Amino acid sequence: MNYLANAQRYQGMEYRRCGSSGLKLPAVSLGLWHNFGHIDVLENARNILKLAFDSGITHFDLANNYGPPPGSAEENFGKIFKDDFKSYRDELIISTKAGWPMWDGPYGDWGSKKYLVSSLDQSLKRMGLDYVDIFYHHRPDPETPLEETMMALDLIVRQGKALYVGISSYTAGQSEKAFEILNKLGTPCLIHQPKYSMFDRWVEDGLLDVLEKDGVGCIPFSPLAQGLLTNKYLNGIPEGSRAAAHRGNGAIEEDQITEDKIEKVKQLNAIASNREQNLAQMALSWILKDRRITSVLIGVSKPEQVTDSIGCLNNLEFSDDELTRINQILK
Ligand SMILES: NC(=O)c1ccc[n+]([C@@H]2O[C@H](COP(=O)([O-])OP(=O)(O)OC[C@H]3O[C@@H](n4cnc5c(N)ncnc54)[C@H](OP(=O)(O)O)[C@@H]3O)[C@@H](O)[C@H]2O)c1
Repeated sequence: MNYLANAQRYQGMEYRRCGSSGLKLPAVSLGLWHNFGHIDVLENARNILKLAFDSGITHFDLANNYGPPPGSAEENFGKIFKDDFKSYRDELIISTKAGWPMWDGPYGDWGSKKYLVSSLDQSLKRMGLDYVDIFYHHRPDPETPLEETMMALDLIVRQGKALYVGISSYTAGQSEKAFEILNKLGTPCLIHQPKYSMFDRWVEDGLLDVLEKDGVGCIPFSPLAQGLLTNKYLNGIPEGSRAAAHRGNGAIEEDQITEDKIEKVKQLNAIASNREQNLAQMALSWILKDRRITSVLIGVSKPEQVTDSIGCLNNLEFSDDELTRINQILK
């Protein structure tokens, strides 16, 4: 039977303007880095995507290398899109990226025009799409001239293969230079995708100010530190969790779940309970309290986590006292 999306889907979600662009994104977006590859269960992936869209999540984030194996998240997304989401294409913001190793030889990595253009062509085929809404350069390339990478992004937009462009994991200084080039080319940068969570606050040292000044949106990835900022690891490493799965490709491993981190998680958990939130919800609200943030980019392994995490929207306000206590814990 054809999927019919929930008619009430736009009622519970907040949509925030992405920098000074014309585009709004849901305050919570869904990423397909893990749990959507060929090693995962396709029907679970389908159920997650349907529930997310039914809950007002209009933005799905992919990259060429998501899986594992690389490329398989885009292939699976393509299958699900064809079966269930084709008629909703104009209600969706779909992004992909290139910048990490994808194929052998000198043209399948980093930031050359050759890599970016060929990679996006491959991504469009895998997903069965005519265009993506956002195409990102996935990480800065120390060797390729920044002009070449930005010209590739501009070209891709002019070719109609992407509507907007973004960058990921660029420092504040690198971002400013990239924005200047893109502005001159006439394709302003829409959005920056940095890693940001209570456990990794580097964006507060300049990047967020640059984004605000230049009217660029911000969509933090791994806002739950891959699950560490939830109550799941409080009593060891549960079966089925990401840390237990050894998925590779940057996924959290057992040795990153240290006693020091768990001690902080316990204390944060207590603050969350007083706010009538669970820790996952508080960790997401804590990011969204800053209006420079357009959206938090979550990952989930089960449909229930979508509903649970969206619950963060019920309490985005923090008292000064709560913020002080959180800062003390995170010191
Ligand atoms: N630009 C980049 O370089 C880059 C890098 C990494 C990620 N990303 C993007 O960011 C997205 C999110 O990254 P992420 O998956 O690391 O995000 P995350 O939200 O920090 O971690 C997701 C994991 O947290 C756990 N979780 C999620 N919601 C939960 C809840 N309500 N209660 C308990 N546990 C919960 C799940 O772990 P279990 O699996 O253990 O259940 C889930 O797999 C990716 O999919 C990708 O689109 C981008």
